[in-house]
Amino acid sequence: MNCVFVTGTDTDAGKTLVSSALLERLGEGGLRTLAFKPVAAGAVKTAVGMRNSDALQLERAMSCRGVSYEQINPVCLEAPVAPHLAAVTEGKKLAVEGLHGDYLRLCEHDHDVILIEGAGGWLVPLNDEETLADFATKVNAHVVLVVNMKLGCLNHALLTAADIQRRGLKLVGWVANQAQLTTMALAEENQAWLTKYFAREHGAPLLASIPFQQTADALRVASYLPASQALISVLQGNTDF
Ligand SMILES: Nc1ncnc2c1ncn2[C@@H]1O[C@H](COP(=O)(O)OP(=O)(O)OP(=O)(O)O)[C@@H](O)[C@H]1O
Ligand SMILES: [Mg+2]
Repeated sequence: MNCVFVTGTDTDAGKTLVSSALLERLGEGGLRTLAFKPVAAGAVKTAVGMRNSDALQLERAMSCRGVSYEQINPVCLEAPVAPHLAAVTEGKKLAVEGLHGDYLRLCEHDHDVILIEGAGGWLVPLNDEETLADFATKVNAHVVLVVNMKLGCLNHALLTAADIQRRGLKLVGWVANQAQLTTMALAEENQAWLTKYFAREHGAPLLASIPFQQTADALRVASYLPASQALISVLQGNTDF
């Protein structure tokens, strides 16, 4: 396991929170972790350049130091809209090839694992032909799916997992995340059904069930994840932990 791609059933599913928690947990185990947010849409101008809050959170949670912001988040777009459209507005072109080059440069830092946070859902477009899923495929990532537990999540979760499988990628685990205060009806039954489905169809275990947090803190959320050695094992594609 060298490269883990965290995707979600939708935007705001909890990818950044879960990614930060995964980085904290892996770091506790002594792993040298790098974070990569290839494309971010929604950023503020600062004295040192454009900054996106997801990338800044991931930067804080990773254990490697001496990596520039631009290496962690090479494409930082100002408007909080679909990235390919934000890119056009800024006169930029997004493509798997360019992102792959950025990824390879980040990989030159000594590390044990790179955690990549997607943007939006699994099939977010990069341009007229490519999606971010094509980038995940290019780097042959192990995928973690964050499911925002709300009505409609089963369909989103199954479609996402089906496309991950179709691409020959491995869904190594999933996280049930209660990102909003109101709990969906029959939440436990939904989670139990998904747990059985993902185990049977994808060999992918439930990594954690994260309740709604009054304060979304990565360290606290990390405590819901398996201990670091077990987590490393499951991210490698082992189902028992
Ligand atoms: N379990 C939770 N309890 C409380 N708040 C949560 C929980 N999970 C996520 N949130 C909050 O919901 C919002 C969206 O979460 P997050 O930024 O992690 O989602 P995302 O999938 O990364 O979104 P994006 O598509 O914008 O990258 C954040 O404000 C986060 O703090
Ligand atoms: Mg995010």
